[in-house]
This record gives sequence, C-alpha cells and structure tokens, in this order.
Amino acid sequence: APTRCRLFGEDYVLFRDKTGVARALTDRCAHRRAPLSDGKITPEGWVECPYHGWRFDGQDGRCRSIPNLSADEPVPAGYGVDAFATRELGGFVFVATPPTAGAVAPLPALDNAGNSTSHQGSAFLATPYRALMAALLDAPSLMLDIRGVQVVDDNFYGEPYRDNAGHFITERAADWTALARKRKKVVPDYPLQLRTETLPGDSITHLALHTDAFAPVLNATLAVTPVSDCVTAVHWQATVHKPEDPAFTPAVHRTLEKLDFTVPDAIDARTLLARHPYASSLWQDTLPGLLLARSSR
Ligand code: FES
Repeated sequence: APTRCRLFGEDYVLFRDKTGVARALTDRCAHRRAPLSDGKITPEGWVECPYHGWRFDGQDGRCRSIPNLSADEPVPAGYGVDAFATRELGGFVFVATPPTAGAVAPLPALDNAGNSTSHQGSAFLATPYRALMAALLDAPSLMLDIRGVQVVDDNFYGEPYRDNAGHFITERAADWTALARKRKKVVPDYPLQLRTETLPGDSITHLALHTDAFAPVLNATLAVTPVSDCVTAVHWQATVHKPEDPAFTPAVHRTLEKLDFTVPDAIDARTLLARHPYASSLWQDTLPGLLLARSSR
C-alpha cells in the first residue's frame, strides 16, 4: 500500500511499482490536492488518488489515467506530480529532493551482517536535526540505549576525524554497566570501545561497539532524518553479537545474554547542554539528503 513520509515538512508518497521498484511522488494529487498516500496501487503499478481516481506513474509522476475521460480522450500533457529519484540500500529507501537532483549518489552497502540477532525500529524526537546530530556525536549515551552498556561520552580515543572518503569518525570508551557500578571515578582502560562513522551528506551513521580485543558486540546503522524543522526521525537497525572471551566475568556474560539496542523517543536536553560540543563542532556537513523511511515489501 502507499505510504506517507514527511521530510523537511513536505509529504511524499512512497510505493512500489509493478516491478517492485520504490517510487516517490509528492503526496498531493494534481487534481485537488488529495493525499495520494490514502489511495491504492493499480494493477499497472501506478498510484491512484482516493478522491476521483486519477492515476499517477511513479517513474515520472505523469497522470496516466482519468476515469471520466472517454476512451479515446488522452490525458492532457503536463498533468502530473513531482517524481523523485529513489535508491534502496540495506533496508532503507533514499529519496533525492528536489526532483531535479536526479539519481541519489551511490552509497556503500549498509553493514547489517552478522550471525547474531538483528532488529530494527524508528524513533521520532521533538528535536531539530542538527541538535540531534550533536547529541549523537557529543553525547551518544543520550541517544543510544544499549542495555547493559554505558558509553563514556567524554572519553575519546584520539581526535574525531574525517577519513579520505569524507566519513566523520569518532572513537570513545564504553563500559559494562555491571562493572561500572563498582569502578572508581577515573578508569585508565575501559573494556569497550564505541566507533561512530557518519557518512557525508546522507544522514547515515554506522555504530560499532567492540571489546578491547576487537570482538564485535553491537553493530548498528542509524538514519537520522529531518522530518520537519523541529522533528527528527531516527530509523535504525542493529545486530547484537555475543562474543566469547575468557576474560569476561559472570556479570558480563549475564549482560551479553540480555544485550539489546534501541533509540529512545526523547533525549535529556540538560545533559546534552552539559556536554562540551567537541565532536559536533568538528563535524561540518551539509544537511543530509534524504532518507524517508525504512523499506518494506
Ligand atoms: S483529487 Fe485526486 S483525483 Fe481528484
């Protein structure tokens, strides 16, 4: 069925055409602006307006059929809605706006492989995009709910940096919560490390949590998506691993049994304000383009 998605305050209708390709159109009928996302998909793979049945081709947005035209009466040229290029990767649909943007730039495949548990979700936060990116880069503990793990926001391993491909990378310490409770305030060596890798211009951030022996504990991909000026969606998928290490204590084993990941629907603004905007000040990027939704079939 057609799906409505919002980006920068604009509504789009997403649907799959007959061949299964994800299509994106302005979610306003060219006739009387009814939401096409309330319509249905026709046998031709077009989207049909729920009001008076105009049908639109997802490939170019052209109106292909108007019910009250006679059989030999063509649909007037120029009737149509804006169509947007899409690209689908790793369970996400990317949409290029404006329509003149053409094809979405190629993106690396999302890393969601693994022999452990994978799951996904979406959070909608009443936080502007840039503030949320600042939270992710400066205080990931506010945005990443990793059960049994504490991210040590201010304990960086080296400077955040941008690699040759333009990916912005941070590396910082993390700790098992069960052990953190018993620790002194200053810990020279933490048992875990969290790496964030934000891709240029497309709102995707890969997370990798691993032990100090580089055994993966969690891999996740976050798509931080500006829905409007003040609401940002975070679509995510995560793979939880269960590494083995003879050094693990029983408490760590118990933590691994219950390890889970989610993104909460709100962040603590007071805590964010208390963080120094260090990594986010190094992260300079254009507004992301333009993930609308997780894909589904
Ligand atoms: S409003 Fe869409 S067909 Fe009339």
